[in-house]
Amino acid sequence: MTTHPSVDPATSLIHHAYTPPGGFCAVQPGVFKASTVIFQNTAALRARNWKEKTGYTYGLHGTPTTFTLEERIATLEGGTHTLLLPSGLAAIALVDLALLDSGDELLIPDNAYGPGKELARNELARWGIAHRFYDAMDPDALTRMIGPQTRLLWLEAPGSVTMEFPDLCALVRVARAKGVMTALDNTWGAGIAFDPFALPGGQAVDISMQALTKYPSGGADVLMGSVTSRDETLHLKLKFSHMRLGWGVGANDVELVLRALPTLALRYAAQDRAARTLAEWLAQRGEIARVLHPALPGSPGFAHWQETCRAAAGLFSVVFDARYASEEVDAFVDALRLFRIGYSWAGPVSLVVPYHLQGMRSQPTPYAGVLVRFSIGFEAVEDLLADLRQALRVAFGGV
Ligand SMILES: Cc1ncc(COP(=O)(O)O)c(C=O)c1O
Repeated sequence: MTTHPSVDPATSLIHHAYTPPGGFCAVQPGVFKASTVIFQNTAALRARNWKEKTGYTYGLHGTPTTFTLEERIATLEGGTHTLLLPSGLAAIALVDLALLDSGDELLIPDNAYGPGKELARNELARWGIAHRFYDAMDPDALTRMIGPQTRLLWLEAPGSVTMEFPDLCALVRVARAKGVMTALDNTWGAGIAFDPFALPGGQAVDISMQALTKYPSGGADVLMGSVTSRDETLHLKLKFSHMRLGWGVGANDVELVLRALPTLALRYAAQDRAARTLAEWLAQRGEIARVLHPALPGSPGFAHWQETCRAAAGLFSVVFDARYASEEVDAFVDALRLFRIGYSWAGPVSLVVPYHLQGMRSQPTPYAGVLVRFSIGFEAVEDLLADLRQALRVAFGGV
């Protein structure tokens, strides 16, 4: 409420006397936007507390809107503290920058999300932070790799594009025995498929990161990331780097994620169901050598998925028979009508991307044919099946 009534509208429209009544209550939380936060007096300004969510200091460091989403993501992940970032990749970068010093070593799964590996190869390497890529399906080899300089172990379940589901519990146990911090890219699990802070065998990761861009947003129209932890000291280390780096998020984007969260579990379950139907159908086709879906028996790491998870995301890959050239697989992808060609997943539209695995991994993969990844949206499964059938016919002939 203003204490400066003015006759000049230039002033009175800024310092206006009206304050709406309090107690407004609606289904969705309000959206608060600010760079500047107003302090009631100088004592309040001087007493500002940047560290805790007991008040507000500056838009970058939190508003009721961002605090609300942080609390909801912490609940989703089973953690206690969450930070929001402008993208999933920024969330990966925050973990690296906050926890690693020059001279430290970082271990990343060879099948991890590619841009996180590129960050290690480029910026981190320039700043004297070493990295190696490890085989996430071989915890014994990981034991031998961890050295005195190893500070941080990234985990991802399942691996990006090739979808191997690792024994998370064993990997965390190895890291913990050697005093190495663990950070999980939990974008696929989304806080729905499994609990990163309560893995089978009683293990817990130190940090769970998500690209909220995918499932929590669900709209294919927001970029956002989160970093969740359960330890106050670790959280403050992350939070201070977050503040110094200036990686805040806009309230309009937060609003979209808050609006989508109530349907997260329903969307996850629907896409899981549809993806398994389509993956099982493709597994019967002669053009396909391999279907890579962690919840399908025979997929790499299926036993670990079974032990760890109660659901699966709507994402899978197929490896075409090696007799098909890349151009023929491209013709299949181009012939799809409902599946659109594009990166990302968990949105309403089903997506498809062909990959050449050569160059994506430091070790060769066992797959000779071209790989195509599918992300399943919300179209009717029968229509998606018909689309796959007609595109296979166009590209390869037959029925
Ligand atoms: C597993 C995984 N982690 C992180 C990211 C990065 O998310 P963003 O696109 O929000 O930077 C992605 C995006 O594709 C992803 O698939």
